[in-house]
Amino acid sequence: MTNDLEKILFTEEQIKERIVELGEQITKDYAGKKILLIGVLKGCYVFLADLARNINLDCEIQFLTASSYGFSSVSSGKVNVNETIDFVTKGRDIIVIEDILDTGVTLTALHAMIAKQKPASLKICTLLDKPERREMPFTADYTGFTCPNEFVVGYGLDYAEKYRNLPNVAVLKKEIYT
Ligand code: IMP
Ligand code: MG
Repeated sequence: MTNDLEKILFTEEQIKERIVELGEQITKDYAGKKILLIGVLKGCYVFLADLARNINLDCEIQFLTASSYGFSSVSSGKVNVNETIDFVTKGRDIIVIEDILDTGVTLTALHAMIAKQKPASLKICTLLDKPERREMPFTADYTGFTCPNEFVVGYGLDYAEKYRNLPNVAVLKKEIYT
């Protein structure tokens, strides 16, 4: 698996340190509140698990499924969101947890869908942000790292359902996906 990697962008240690900071910030910003973390599957699963354990607040954890890539490294531009939200969002303090903010298509759609249900507040937390790739103007409220315009895998992020179990975030060799 590691032979497929061009270089490591963010090490396990760097990610761990940054998540401690994000957790402290969220704990401070939502002091005294009960929050609802909504993870966007599947890419969020590692990040959410680590982030939630660094948030010292009562929190409920739920998941939604969104996909736009399928088995490709280029976004299809169309987002499929699993529309059945079977948990209460109205009046809640919600933070959506994403692996990476890329074109902004997924989060623009998700944000609009959740906002319609009248939460008390709605913020976005993403581990990675690739601002150079943005097609829709979207800004996250909490960002782990700004990411260069490269296709990355690991720490939950995949290429064709592989590499999610890498402990760090790495650039995939171009020959793997071209
Ligand atoms: P967006 O709708 O283009 O912002 O895409 C967001 C989704 O695309 C993320 O949740 C990821 O699942 C996927 N994605 C975008 N860039 C990468 C990448 O570099 N590696 C792996 N998945 C990515
Ligand atoms: Mg994703």
